[in-house]
Amino acid sequence: MTRPETLLAHAGCEPDAGTGAVVAPIHLSTTFERAPDGSYPHGFLYSRVDNPTRQLFERTLADLEGGEACAAFASGMAAAMALLLALRPGDHVVLADDAYYGVRRLMRELFDGWGLSWTEVDLTDPGALEAALRPETRLIWAESPSNPMLKITDLAAVARQARTAGAYLAVDSTWTTPLLQRPLDLGADVVIHSVTKYLAGHSDVLGGAIVARSGTGLFERVRAVQTTAGPVMDPLSAWLALRGMRSLAARLPMQCAHAHRLARFLEAHPRVTRVHYPGLPSHPGHAIARRQMQDFGAMLSFEVDGTAEDALAVAARTRVFTRATSLGGTESLIEHRASIEAPPTRTPPTLLRCSVGLEHIDDLLEDLSRALGD
Ligand SMILES: Cc1ncc(COP(=O)(O)O)c(C=O)c1O
Repeated sequence: MTRPETLLAHAGCEPDAGTGAVVAPIHLSTTFERAPDGSYPHGFLYSRVDNPTRQLFERTLADLEGGEACAAFASGMAAAMALLLALRPGDHVVLADDAYYGVRRLMRELFDGWGLSWTEVDLTDPGALEAALRPETRLIWAESPSNPMLKITDLAAVARQARTAGAYLAVDSTWTTPLLQRPLDLGADVVIHSVTKYLAGHSDVLGGAIVARSGTGLFERVRAVQTTAGPVMDPLSAWLALRGMRSLAARLPMQCAHAHRLARFLEAHPRVTRVHYPGLPSHPGHAIARRQMQDFGAMLSFEVDGTAEDALAVAARTRVFTRATSLGGTESLIEHRASIEAPPTRTPPTLLRCSVGLEHIDDLLEDLSRALGD
């Protein structure tokens, strides 16, 4: 099997049969010529249904995840919507209580009226999951590490519970990418990505994807939502995402190392009451993270001693970290999560979330040190 680093280094590099160009071209055409007999000799009909650049992205990500198929979408939330639309009215969803707030909001504000019911559960507690399962539970939606508390779920254990319950397990792998964690190998049925983040990697592309292992009927319905309703990833975004992915194996390990270093610094800081980073031995999910992840990721959050205003003041003093939402780019970002999530958020008001980038580690350390008042 080709290793992920090699697959990534070659992402989107399929020499063009017509020109020999090493990097595949962007196919912006919306429509494709029929042969005189009415067939489509190249297999493409219309770009909502399939597009060569999007297909190249989809094949690359499916290979990286060890999945059979991938469907690419206009954003991570479009992918989430497609997965929920693939369910049927009456189905029940178990959703990690600390899944990305946008997904929980999608459930609450849109899908509630479509006949889906859901229960938010702490998936780090096997008893809580067991209690939440119902005969009509069709999908368990996990995210590990979670957002923004970085809770670690034992994905293999949840996959076993899902199988016994006759439910699919979907894992949002945006924060880990296939380089740090491969949910399908751990027994999940579906992997969800916001491609916007680490995969594309430069804060300049919106995209999403669903990857499935073989034999899930659910994926056929996801594909139908993609091609019939049309919330597709456009060819330019697919091409830019592939270009970003070519350097993922160089970017992410450095970002993880920086995050680890910052987490240790913050843990020792007198103005910080808690650090949420699974690479710290003090993290309750550390042992599971060691087992199921290749590295601990480049996201961390920490709680400042004091009030929400104190936390906002710390973020206001950073010069290297940019105050912005999102994650996964080369530039470090810091965010007061409770402000963006808004009520009924459960995020502590003193929590700041960091997406750690590729700047010099000493500049990042000095920036947080200064922001904390040292
Ligand atoms: C874990 C996770 N999943 C999904 C999304 C949604 O992705 P997008 O912004 O591409 O719609 C995000 C966005 O922040 C995220 O962090």
